[in-house]
Amino acid sequence: MLTHLTVEHATTPLALHTRRPRFSWWIDPDLADGRAQAAYQVIVDGVIDTGRVESAESAYVDVLADHVAPSTRYDWRVRLWLQGSDEPSEWASSWFETARDLSDWPAQWLDPAQEPVTADGSMSPFAPNPNTAAPEDKLHPPAMIRQEFTLDEAPVSARLRMTAQGVYQAELNGRPVGDEVLAPGYEGYHKLISVQTYDVTDQLQAGANTLGAILGDGWFAGRIAFTGLSRQYGDRLRLTWVLEVTDAEGRVREILPDSTARSTHHGPIRYADIFIGESYDARRELPGWGAPGFDASGWDKVELADVSENLVPFVGEPVRRVMEVPAVEVISTPAGECVVDFGQVLAGRVRLTVTGEAGTTITLEHAEVLDAHGNFLNNIAGCNKDQTDHYTLRGGGPETWEPTFTFHGFRYVRLTGWPDTGGTPDASAFTAVVLASDLAYGGEWESSDPRLNQLHRNVVWSQRANLLAVPTDCPQRERAGWTGDIQIFAPAATNNADVTAFLSRWLRNARAEQWDDGMVPIIVPMPRGMDFSDNGGDGTPKERPDDEIFDIDGAAGWGDAIVFVPHALWRRAGDLGVVEDNWDAMVAWIDYQTRAAAQFLPKRLRDTELDPASRANHEIMWNGVFNFGDWLTPSLSDATDPQSIMIAPRRTSEYMGPFYQGQSLTLMAEMARATGREAEASDYERRAGDVRRAWAEEYLDAEGRIPEPLMGVSVLALAFGFVPDEHMDAVRAHLVQTLHDNGDRLDTGFLSVAHLLPALWSAGETDLARTVLWQPETPSWLYEVDHGATTIWESWDAVKPDGTVGTSSFNHYAFGCVDDWLFTHLAGVRESAPGFRESVITPDLDAPLDHVRARIVTPYGPLEARWRRREDNPDAVDVKLELPGNTSATVLAPPGWRCTESEEARFGSGRHAVRLVRG
Ligand code: BGC
Repeated sequence: MLTHLTVEHATTPLALHTRRPRFSWWIDPDLADGRAQAAYQVIVDGVIDTGRVESAESAYVDVLADHVAPSTRYDWRVRLWLQGSDEPSEWASSWFETARDLSDWPAQWLDPAQEPVTADGSMSPFAPNPNTAAPEDKLHPPAMIRQEFTLDEAPVSARLRMTAQGVYQAELNGRPVGDEVLAPGYEGYHKLISVQTYDVTDQLQAGANTLGAILGDGWFAGRIAFTGLSRQYGDRLRLTWVLEVTDAEGRVREILPDSTARSTHHGPIRYADIFIGESYDARRELPGWGAPGFDASGWDKVELADVSENLVPFVGEPVRRVMEVPAVEVISTPAGECVVDFGQVLAGRVRLTVTGEAGTTITLEHAEVLDAHGNFLNNIAGCNKDQTDHYTLRGGGPETWEPTFTFHGFRYVRLTGWPDTGGTPDASAFTAVVLASDLAYGGEWESSDPRLNQLHRNVVWSQRANLLAVPTDCPQRERAGWTGDIQIFAPAATNNADVTAFLSRWLRNARAEQWDDGMVPIIVPMPRGMDFSDNGGDGTPKERPDDEIFDIDGAAGWGDAIVFVPHALWRRAGDLGVVEDNWDAMVAWIDYQTRAAAQFLPKRLRDTELDPASRANHEIMWNGVFNFGDWLTPSLSDATDPQSIMIAPRRTSEYMGPFYQGQSLTLMAEMARATGREAEASDYERRAGDVRRAWAEEYLDAEGRIPEPLMGVSVLALAFGFVPDEHMDAVRAHLVQTLHDNGDRLDTGFLSVAHLLPALWSAGETDLARTVLWQPETPSWLYEVDHGATTIWESWDAVKPDGTVGTSSFNHYAFGCVDDWLFTHLAGVRESAPGFRESVITPDLDAPLDHVRARIVTPYGPLEARWRRREDNPDAVDVKLELPGNTSATVLAPPGWRCTESEEARFGSGRHAVRLVRG
């Protein structure tokens, strides 16, 4: 009856970060037979027995207060009573372990002998890199570290807690610890460093043991973000750990880094950088280095230093090798080059197997596209974006290699130096190892239209590639946690995977990096070289002088992620805890907007006489601060003119500010109400209303015209409720006209694109919404599909109709936000209570489709909705539902259709079928 027991989105966590874990379980819908839960009983051994609690809650059940101790294992079980039944279910049981209290971390940093990381990259992406040295000269080898220790007996239990300034891979007695890669992941390390916990019980033995670790630059000291700047958090790499070994009597011994450890940089990895790539010389391997008995007498002594950083338990899913994609073919291009094609744009790296002579060096260069002639094209320009790996053979047989401390965004690999075996290498020698944060991708979407199916697959691939340690814009050029990108994509992301823990960890970074005045940066973690946090922190928003791209921070639609992302997680994943955790940060952000609104009028008005009412209106609106505007508005972007990128910010900043301010206030009001903050809810509603009223008074003329005619502006005016009733028809008509004038093609940028189809839909323009979705000409989603896209592109015409291939990113999920529409409108599944506890199913039966199937894994279990047009009668559709235990749904026929039984059909959990007919 009860399955899938979790605490805080984790099944059996080894280091749960909170002292107040909440419990969730799924109720088998077939056994529950439509009955909801009436009561539950939770027992956490030694802590609490709730007895029978009359409650229908089965997700995020909060019964524990702060009773759990750190570093402790708890067994827990749950049973329930269904409505109308006196018999409890069987017990279902699970366990969790709590994180160590990290405020008394007993260990020091182990600081191996090392060359400090050199200065690299330029402060401005437009300036040349002053460091012109070749990678082998400017990069340094990762440190290999080993420390021996003796145990009297094999442990009953052992936990290794470890983290680094850098990235690490640990081993015990020569066997890798865990299956994570690139630990500890990416965070704003100057504020937070996450500690990983591994169960290493089976890797220790009585007698001599060795802990080994390799330590690379990673995000801490390596090159990252737009600028490709190195050593953003420091120029030395360090490692710390506590190995807790418990014996049969329950005694715990802690093994910490000490001065007996030794390190070397003479191992096989000659350098490793997340951007530049990795160089490996297999002739320099040191067999047995991580096991007892290795002669490390020539290795260096290590230093120890106090840990003063803020260590926190890691939350969510680590980065792992999540999939493998075999090479499709090895091509000889018209230019005569050897290029491996993996058939899919992805984030990861290549594992190769090769036979050849010792000392032969193979070079792999990674790119996402071929040019119009089928030649290798490096589409990722910029400082330090080499994406190039080298492997030097050990010789003497087949040898297999995969890099350790790098990854790339690619589909194609240009290969040079392959041993001459008389022809091109076989595709079977290459496998792309896909790296991602290891989220559960349980969502599915599928229809009778192969192009839409491909569009959905492309979105999922871009989601997987960009939810890698932090939510990034792209996995090759910047790999940065741009807040605007996840703001617009978060709702779509929730359908495909449970992103709650992943985004909660990222939000923890956003809170840590929020300025004292409430400003939320445009990137989290904020790359250090681009950090403008020089505002003095006196609570006053500062103006940036020139309306240039580097004047922007905390931008409309970017900083608002602090409000929109928790809101999406609450609505879709039902987790109100995320709202509570971020409440103060959200309040600080919207108060920042309010203060900045009062402080800065739009520049064009500053020297003008304004009548007092108008001045008061402008002081309510956040319209005087420069931002990215409706970024990448297609009609304003000219690929041949890099300066054109700033036209959309200049034309639309004044609009995007108030739109996002008003909508953030509205979402705050909803979240305030949901968390019992009634007075605040009313206050936010009033403030949201003031912003909308002020906007309508200042920006709409008597005919309902907006001075800025761009499509994205009227989309957001409509979608965010800024248009008073009397002007609705005019604004709708204008939006429709802009589409027709543009050949029914979209012209929306980053901030409005997700709201275009919803705006058309609620304006009653359902046919036009379908035309835009199925539009084959660029800018459109299906143009990309028709031009061979396997992911979502940053630029709608990254491949031009004449085949010219551009040098933008081919893996940007932002415009993939349309994926949400496939679930909410084509399949028609919408949550009407948070977490799909209740949903409304209204499929778009007038879409040019014969069937659609959508599956979303809700906190209550998988929800599946399918519809299929009857072959004998296109005006009749069979809808089939599988609703998770403890949930209900209403099938609401779309306009022009009706349920054969009644207008609407309401269902409890389980399997249901209903027929809808036209008329
Ligand atoms: C990134 C974006 C980001 C934007 C900010 C770009 O370079 O790739 O996705 O949000 O800058 O305007």
